[in-house]
Amino acid sequence: MEKNIVKHDYTVDQNSRGKLKKHAAKLLWFTGLSGSGKSTIANRVEQVLHEKGVHTYCLDGDNVRKGLNKDLSFSPEDRTENIRRIAETANLMIDAGLVVLAAFVSPYKKDRENIRTIVGSENMVEIYVNTSVEECERRDVKGLYKKARAGEIKNMTGISSPYEAPTNPEIEVKTEKLNVDEATEHIINTIYPKLNHHE
Ligand code: ADX
Repeated sequence: MEKNIVKHDYTVDQNSRGKLKKHAAKLLWFTGLSGSGKSTIANRVEQVLHEKGVHTYCLDGDNVRKGLNKDLSFSPEDRTENIRRIAETANLMIDAGLVVLAAFVSPYKKDRENIRTIVGSENMVEIYVNTSVEECERRDVKGLYKKARAGEIKNMTGISSPYEAPTNPEIEVKTEKLNVDEATEHIINTIYPKLNHHE
C-alpha cells in the first residue's frame, strides 16, 4: 500500500507553528509499572507547563485504551502495537507544535527505542518513573495486583509479564525517595530550559 503514497509537504510546517506558539515541541514519555505514579506526575507536570503558557496534551494508557486502542490486549504483540500507535499519534502532535506527555507502562525496551525512531531522538525525553513492584503492589490503587495474584488477570506487568527498566533514561524519578511535588520540580527544571522559547 505504502508504495503508492507520496508525502505532501505543507507550507505551514512545524517551525512556523513553533514560532506562533513560542516554544519547541517535545515528547515527554513516562514509563514505569502500573501504579508507579506516571499519570499523577504527568498530570502535575502538564499543569505547571500550562501555567507557564506552554501548549500541551496528555496521552494516557487507561484513556487511550478506551478509544483509539480499545481493540488491543496486554499480550506482548498488542503492547507493541499500542506503543507504536501512541508514538505515531505523538509524532503528529509534535508536528502540530505541542509538548506531549505520554504515560504508558511501555515495558519493552525495543518498543521504547521504536518511539525514539518515530518521533526523532531530539524530540524525545524518556522519563523513568522508578517505583519498585513491592511498593506498587502495596499501593495497589486499582486493585490490579490483588487480581493478578489471584490469577484473575494474566500478563500483569511486574507479576506475570516482564518490565524491562530503562538503562539510560533522560530523567529518572525514584518515587520512594521523592514526593510528587519534588518529582515534578525535578522534571520541570530539566526540561523547561530545553523548550528554547522563541521571542
Ligand atoms: S502498555 O504495557 O501497553 O504500555 P498501558 O500503559 O497502555 O500498557 O496500560 C496500562 C494500564 O492498563 C495500567 O495502568 C492498568 O491500569 C491497566 N492494566 C490492565 N491489565 C493490565 C496488565 N495485564 N498489565 C499492565 N497493566 C494492565
